[in-house]
Amino acid sequence: MDLLAKDQEFVWHPFTQAQTAPIPLPIVKAKGAWLYSVDGKKYLDVNSSWWTINHGHGNEYIAGKIHAQFLELDHVIFAGVTHPKAVEVAERIIKILPTGFQKVFFSDNGSTSVEVAIKMVYQYWHNKGIEKKRFLALEGAYHGDTFGAMSVGQRGYFNAPFEHLFFEVDFIPFPTEENFSELLEKIESLFSTASFAGFIFEPLVQGAAGMRIYKAEWLDAFISIAKKYNVLTVADEVMTGFYRTGTFFATHQLKQIPDIICLSKGVTGGVMPIGLTVATQSIFEAFLSNETTKALLHGHSFTGNPLSCAAICASLDLFEDQSTLDAIKKISDSHRRFIDAHGNNPVFRSAKSIGTILSLEVEVGEGSSYFSEMRSEAYQFFLENELLIRPLGNVIFINPPYCVTSQELEYVYLKVMEFVTSFNSRLNNQ
Ligand SMILES: Cc1ncc(COP(=O)(O)O)c(C=O)c1O
Repeated sequence: MDLLAKDQEFVWHPFTQAQTAPIPLPIVKAKGAWLYSVDGKKYLDVNSSWWTINHGHGNEYIAGKIHAQFLELDHVIFAGVTHPKAVEVAERIIKILPTGFQKVFFSDNGSTSVEVAIKMVYQYWHNKGIEKKRFLALEGAYHGDTFGAMSVGQRGYFNAPFEHLFFEVDFIPFPTEENFSELLEKIESLFSTASFAGFIFEPLVQGAAGMRIYKAEWLDAFISIAKKYNVLTVADEVMTGFYRTGTFFATHQLKQIPDIICLSKGVTGGVMPIGLTVATQSIFEAFLSNETTKALLHGHSFTGNPLSCAAICASLDLFEDQSTLDAIKKISDSHRRFIDAHGNNPVFRSAKSIGTILSLEVEVGEGSSYFSEMRSEAYQFFLENELLIRPLGNVIFINPPYCVTSQELEYVYLKVMEFVTSFNSRLNNQ
């Protein structure tokens, strides 16, 4: 096939060992929850194309708004210039976020939204003339692949070659019922040193770690300690935003409001690249000065791109439609029913859901890891059954576009159970 031959000749794919990876799927069309390949096959986009697509592919309302924006104003520098769609995005996002946020900084993607947040935190203290250099993060964290984002992410497989370049970050274990009180003491002892500039976390769900879900009240307790010791808190909602956890933002389930929020992925309905870093007024004010060097001297060519902003506004319009909220609730209820029916099955080490995310940790007999052998077997099995599901190690997770139908979801569950049952019986017969 010409497409695949040329791909092999000219393209370098992300997160891919080209020497051993299977050839990529040649996808040429997408509509609703489905992807179509050049050879006439179709696949249900069960994980919403890297957790981005909310309203389904090829949404005509969003397409119309991007098209109209293109004809009006396609792109313009955002330093020294503003435009209506960026202002509309900022105002609408601020109004939807929990009270306290005031200023939106635009960038290109999830990693840059985090990169900007980290720079805001460091420069906030720098501008105030207070020396604070350490960051706190959670073990298993994933915040992106740029240097700052890697620094506050789980060290290991993915970033070993760069580790010597990372800044100083302390990691605390992922919270559980068992370690929660210990973690409180640990955080208190770290933050009381007055050397911590910031604390970053993925609220309620750690995505890349395997859709690991934890309690809002635990995070509330951590943020309270941060506030007590003046440590700035950064909620990385790149994955959790836009109803993935059942509320508009995961932060809506918290009592303690963080200082900075990072948004990307589903912000445009998942169809255009953009990142937003949203800060409180008090953070913004720490950058006000007669000295230019106290400004946040950061920007990207496509900062505030009008086409991406038009997509955000269109996606926000769709969230105002009750049918979108009903669809989200239908997925959440359906995941809960799956857990009621199968959650105690010993084929699963754990089965949890939050909002539209169903996270199934499969019993694999040895330790879980990203490179669990189950992963590639499951990936192939699902492809053969018209499902595009990329398990994270031994975690199979379902996080579909909101337009998925009940029948499609039931089919996904059926195939997941078929795979895990067969895998488990082979495991037990080894
Ligand atoms: C929580 C979180 N933060 C940041 C990122 C990085 O986003 P991007 O891939 O757009 O750079 C991701 C991507 O998966 C993510 O899940």
